[in-house]
Amino acid sequence: MIVIALETSCDETSVAVVDHDRLVAQSTYSQIKHHQAFGGVNPGVARRAHEERLPLLLKRTLARTHTTFPNQKACDCLYCRSPRRSSLVVHRSSIDAIAVTVGPGLPPALEVGLRTAKEIAILHSLPLIPVNHLEGHIASVFLKRSSGAPYVKNIPQLQFPFLSLIVSGGHTELVVTEMNDERLKMKDYENNSSSILHPSSLISHLLLGQTLDDAAGEVIDKVGRELGLGYPAGPVLEHMARLGNPKAYPFPLPLKNTPQSDLNFSFSGLKTKAVQMLVGDHRIGTYTQRPRSSNVARRSIQDFSASFQQAVIDALAFKVTRAVKHTGIKQLVLTGGVSANLELRRQLRQVMKACGGQLFTAPIGFTGDNAGMIGLAATFAYNRGEGLTSPEEIEAVDRQPNLQFPLTK
Ligand code: KG4
Ligand code: ZN
Repeated sequence: MIVIALETSCDETSVAVVDHDRLVAQSTYSQIKHHQAFGGVNPGVARRAHEERLPLLLKRTLARTHTTFPNQKACDCLYCRSPRRSSLVVHRSSIDAIAVTVGPGLPPALEVGLRTAKEIAILHSLPLIPVNHLEGHIASVFLKRSSGAPYVKNIPQLQFPFLSLIVSGGHTELVVTEMNDERLKMKDYENNSSSILHPSSLISHLLLGQTLDDAAGEVIDKVGRELGLGYPAGPVLEHMARLGNPKAYPFPLPLKNTPQSDLNFSFSGLKTKAVQMLVGDHRIGTYTQRPRSSNVARRSIQDFSASFQQAVIDALAFKVTRAVKHTGIKQLVLTGGVSANLELRRQLRQVMKACGGQLFTAPIGFTGDNAGMIGLAATFAYNRGEGLTSPEEIEAVDRQPNLQFPLTK
């Protein structure tokens, strides 16, 4: 199945062509510089930037892949017209469906992608597949290159059910993902291996826990802003932390004394504590790259960054360990913008190893929001019967800013 996918849930405008699990092409525009002055994502600015960029990205991605809609004439670019060269390009003249993120996300931002997807679906009589952004983040680990090689090398070892930790600027969720393969129920089903893309593969997700207040990336950005690290602070904080002492400043472990079955997170206490330390007792000051900034100030910012990053990692690792014990599932997928953090990856890999399990991380370059993961998640949704074909059904689809997986019992 060839899907065009649109992602506009937050501050990345992204379009992809996905052929089953293979990413054929993807164009992403990051709006970071539009939001820097606000120190966070401004929803109105995000909407305008999506409106400006989405048509351009769509055109570029389709042209690059020589993809056309079913009721259009074949691609007539120079490559496709030349009989000698045409063997060099992949002709994808038939798109099977259009996928779009419907939530969770910022309402004005989600609306841009959804409106465009509806227009395309109705104009070209294509099914519309509404996609849960969180399912997209989980699907990112299964993406393959256009050559068919998986981005995540150890992915063949991942088995259902598995746990996922989604950590980004808007999310901190622990999820369990299962697959019911109808073929396994058939007597004459000879091959016992199940494919994530087979039409009988029904992938479903249940929520084990989520943040009760701020998301992990959100507090990293807020504390980073107090430190003067700019927006988004995550990558700079990681860089500073690499040079600092993670034990220099003490932070509490949130929700430590809750029952073993509690798999929720809380980060607002860490944020408050960090800000108190910055402006109160320790007066660390802010980071500037000017040579005037003294070595002592630089050192303390590095130590503070390392200590705060460690506090966030400890909070995540604590609940991951609990989730493994609680569910007995020993394979964890780590995904979302914060999963780009190499120290988080390293420590969670150790945690999973200590539990006798294994960590699978979103491919670098696909940790943040991207349309490729939405295109693959669309196939999961399509197999569950979530593709819509009638214009009435398509028109009725609404954005779902607070979309969430169902809770485990
Ligand atoms: O998934 P994402 O691109 O967008 C959202 O859906 O939020 O995640 C962005 C978040 C920001 O909070 C950013 O500071 C954080 O991911 N982030 C990092 C790193 N790279 C991005 N946090 C820690 N370490 C990083 N290397
Ligand atoms: Zn995201």
